[in-house]
Amino acid sequence: MRQGLDVMKAVALDVDDRFRVVEVAEPVPGPGEVAIRVAYAGVQYGDVLVRAGHFPVPRPFVPGFEAAGEIVAVGEGVADARLGERVTALLGGGGYAEIVTAPAVLAINAERVGPREAAGFGWVTPTAYDVINSVASVRRGDSVLIHAAAGGVGSQAAQFAAVAGAARIVGVVGNVDQVDYAHRFGYHQVLVREDFPDALGGETFDAILDPIGGPARVASLERLAPHGRIVAYGNIATFEPVTVSANDLLARGQSLMTYNSNLASQTSPTKLADSATRAMSLVADGSVRIDVTAEYDLGDVETAIADLAGGATRGKSIVRVG
Ligand SMILES: NC(=O)c1ccc[n+]([C@@H]2O[C@H](COP(=O)([O-])OP(=O)(O)OC[C@H]3O[C@@H](n4cnc5c(N)ncnc54)[C@H](OP(=O)(O)O)[C@@H]3O)[C@@H](O)[C@H]2O)c1
Repeated sequence: MRQGLDVMKAVALDVDDRFRVVEVAEPVPGPGEVAIRVAYAGVQYGDVLVRAGHFPVPRPFVPGFEAAGEIVAVGEGVADARLGERVTALLGGGGYAEIVTAPAVLAINAERVGPREAAGFGWVTPTAYDVINSVASVRRGDSVLIHAAAGGVGSQAAQFAAVAGAARIVGVVGNVDQVDYAHRFGYHQVLVREDFPDALGGETFDAILDPIGGPARVASLERLAPHGRIVAYGNIATFEPVTVSANDLLARGQSLMTYNSNLASQTSPTKLADSATRAMSLVADGSVRIDVTAEYDLGDVETAIADLAGGATRGKSIVRVG
């Protein structure tokens, strides 16, 4: 068992909103936790939101919500057999560091994939799996519309929709450069944002994935088929509230659903881990591909997050730690 006396490198978001490489004490796993020697950490939109102040955190704060590596210590109640296991962990922070602790249940076995792919898995792959399967309940023959289609969640959600048997999968992206890229993930049609929804004619969808919010959410609600499900799982464009009439939805048998993996990690971690494990199987057998397109050094976390915030990324970005 580690004593927590060793010093490690980490990246901390400071009070002046800058990310700095710092030296801090290695964390020690508490009851039900494991300590992971991090090989790669995944970059995700939560990093952007923390930096922008949407989630209050005490500064300095070590961000990094997903990390892949090897279990090097276990806390009370965790089997020693997990020592040495290669995992990818869903974290509440701390991933941009050489060692991170995580609840053992959320350290998902990643022995069947490489370390870069494991880091790219993060929250994104379980989220893409759950929004398609657990929330929107996409079934054979369904039509699916996916916003932010070339992003981390979007590029994988299209693949999970195909695995679920969706007959038509349409993506919406920010610019023409993303159109060809998005097509690699099985979309039947990809639109640029300014053409949504007009380019769709009168088409409606059984399931719509909306991490955008605001006017895009309002326009998307108009595109739901009878009995259609729209899943709100982010607010990339705006946190401005969208008001929906339950009576109007009821008249058409439609549903507005939400998904919050961070909350699920606290309220039902075993259920989230079950989805993550199912998603991992589909990645390991090649049904779903995690496209890691950018790799940054630990000292370049600032750039990695700025690139994601600025829409300059495709697929998934990771940070090399180990
Ligand atoms: N609820 C949950 O449990 C959960 C879990 C994970 C992620 N999320 C959410 O899922 C979303 C995607 O996360 P991610 O990590 O996979 O990020 P991402 O999709 O890789 O990156 C965000 C993408 O959003 C698009 N975008 C940027 N500004 C936009 C705007 N003003 N309007 C419309 N689109 C814009 C950009 O795509 P284009 O270049 O195509 O414009 C950008 O690539 C985020 O909202 C995140 O918070 C939610």
